[in-house]
Amino acid sequence: MKTRITELFGIRHPIIQGGMHYVGFAELAAAVSNAGGLGIITGLTQKTPELLAHEIRRCREMTDQPFGVNLTFLPTVTSPDYPGYIKAIVDGGVKVVETAGNNPQKWLPGLHEAGIKVIHKCTSVRHSLKAQAIGCDAVSVDGFECGGHPGEDDVPNFILLPRAADELKIPFVASGGMADGRSLVAALALGAEGMNMGTRFIATKEAPVHERVKQAIVAASELDTRLVMRPLRNTERVLNNAAVERLLQKERTLGAALKFDDIIEEVAGVYPRIMKEGEMDAGAWSCGMVAGLIHDVPTVKELVDRIMSEAEAIITKRLAGFVAA
Ligand SMILES: Cc1cc2nc3c(=O)[nH]c(=O)nc-3n(C[C@H](O)[C@H](O)[C@H](O)COP(=O)(O)O)c2cc1C
Repeated sequence: MKTRITELFGIRHPIIQGGMHYVGFAELAAAVSNAGGLGIITGLTQKTPELLAHEIRRCREMTDQPFGVNLTFLPTVTSPDYPGYIKAIVDGGVKVVETAGNNPQKWLPGLHEAGIKVIHKCTSVRHSLKAQAIGCDAVSVDGFECGGHPGEDDVPNFILLPRAADELKIPFVASGGMADGRSLVAALALGAEGMNMGTRFIATKEAPVHERVKQAIVAASELDTRLVMRPLRNTERVLNNAAVERLLQKERTLGAALKFDDIIEEVAGVYPRIMKEGEMDAGAWSCGMVAGLIHDVPTVKELVDRIMSEAEAIITKRLAGFVAA
């Protein structure tokens, strides 16, 4: 399949694996890139720029295909060494950066000078237009369904994607709620030129997370996610569990007086405990509503091949059948 996204990133299939904290290690990124998509290492999961440089080298040992690095500019407890991370990316010869969170304008000249393409993740049309105006090469349009940070506008992809298509000139992928061939064809129909998946890629053999995380996604339905941190305007969609129930109770009790410190136990530093140790109630972890569409744990290649053959069959058989004379 050829779209402006496959051309831009030099990939075979228009499928991107979004950056995921404590999931996006070299193993997963390389598996996605080897399967013909674009794998992405999560920059900030690596505690220092030196560790990121090491992770990039590891990924390169596992694939000769293009892969990217995610740089997230969200409120964090301590501010990361962004110039150091960017140097590691440039020196590591990485050609794609997925930015997310705050406006990446400040970092674009350095990235572009190094020949790096930048895809910025946005949860609204206005942020997508801003990304285009500052010179991003593509946008990942992240609907309200998504796992992680859906922003504060709450516009689902059935509206957000065609709105983005109406306004944007640069190519974009659909992100949030994407799982299978149907998702890909729908995304293309709504104006996107590919799709970005997070949650679906966690439930794969190569995802380097505890087996209990994968099984929790398989067991979850589309009703099992919750929005947390809304009062802090840092909304995150997470899988419900005991810690999330506790967090939501604090939000209800404290109302507008809620501060980050009040919920630190449920959100700070919980990812390694969940993703590595499989302590499923250790805290709040991002998960999309798309969990309701995930019923198995295939290899990344099986998943990507299945998506592409399903998409092709939908386009050439089901949809073509509707318009046949
Ligand atoms: C466990 C998890 C961790 C994530 N961590 C990050 C992150 O560190 N940076 C980021 O930009 N997006 C992060 N995301 C968002 C994904 O990159 C992607 O945009 C999102 O998962 C898409 O929605 P989906 O889960 O419905 O596919 C995370 C998502 C999940 C599920």
